[in-house]
Amino acid sequence: MFNDQSADVLEVMHDLEVRDEHDRVNGTPHLERLRQITPDTGRFIALWAAAAPAGAMIEIGTSAGYSALWLAQACRISGRSLTTFEILPEKARLARATFARTQVTDVVHLVEGDFLDHVDEIEDVGFCFLDAEKDVYESCYDLVVPKMVPGAILIADNATSHRDDLQSMLDRVLADDRVDAMIATVGKGELVCRRR
Ligand SMILES: C[S@@+](CC[C@H](N)C(=O)[O-])C[C@H]1O[C@@H](n2cnc3c(N)ncnc32)[C@H](O)[C@@H]1O
Repeated sequence: MFNDQSADVLEVMHDLEVRDEHDRVNGTPHLERLRQITPDTGRFIALWAAAAPAGAMIEIGTSAGYSALWLAQACRISGRSLTTFEILPEKARLARATFARTQVTDVVHLVEGDFLDHVDEIEDVGFCFLDAEKDVYESCYDLVVPKMVPGAILIADNATSHRDDLQSMLDRVLADDRVDAMIATVGKGELVCRRR
């Protein structure tokens, strides 16, 4: 999966990593920053997505499509597709360009809009990557968990980098009898939940 990425994917990932790094230090306003996952988190979510049971594969928070490119690799080897949700039109525009440049539009479907407005269209979730604004994490978790098939995986980014903002949700998830969960010290901290 990781050793046979196309030159286009490697080039676009590199471009996005450089832009994201610059965003973090050059005063780019918060909402314009890409705020991507780290490359090791990309590998981490792709491995989990490839191993997840059959079911819908979704991502909440696309930005310019960097994490979706990692998940697209899991789609390729598992014969599935990813639906990724992005609320901001400008980010959706960037993501469309990313997916076109890397020729992943056969396995990555972008939905422009608020995930919370589309949740009724989703069922039988096998894998979910949650990486939106922290104030909607708990609502997303509460809406997605009942739709997860047994053994399905939900991963949420920023579990350690935004621990203060997420503490009450993390406490609830770690005590939630519907899932087995832990926080992995990868990247910015990945909350990993497996539906029982
Ligand atoms: C941290 S960035 C995502 C980074 C992306 N996952 C990556 O690693 O390449 C969060 C994104 O979630 C989007 N977002 C926030 N709330 C959302 C919602 N309710 N529905 C869909 N997208 C949302 C933001 O506009 C932003 O682009």
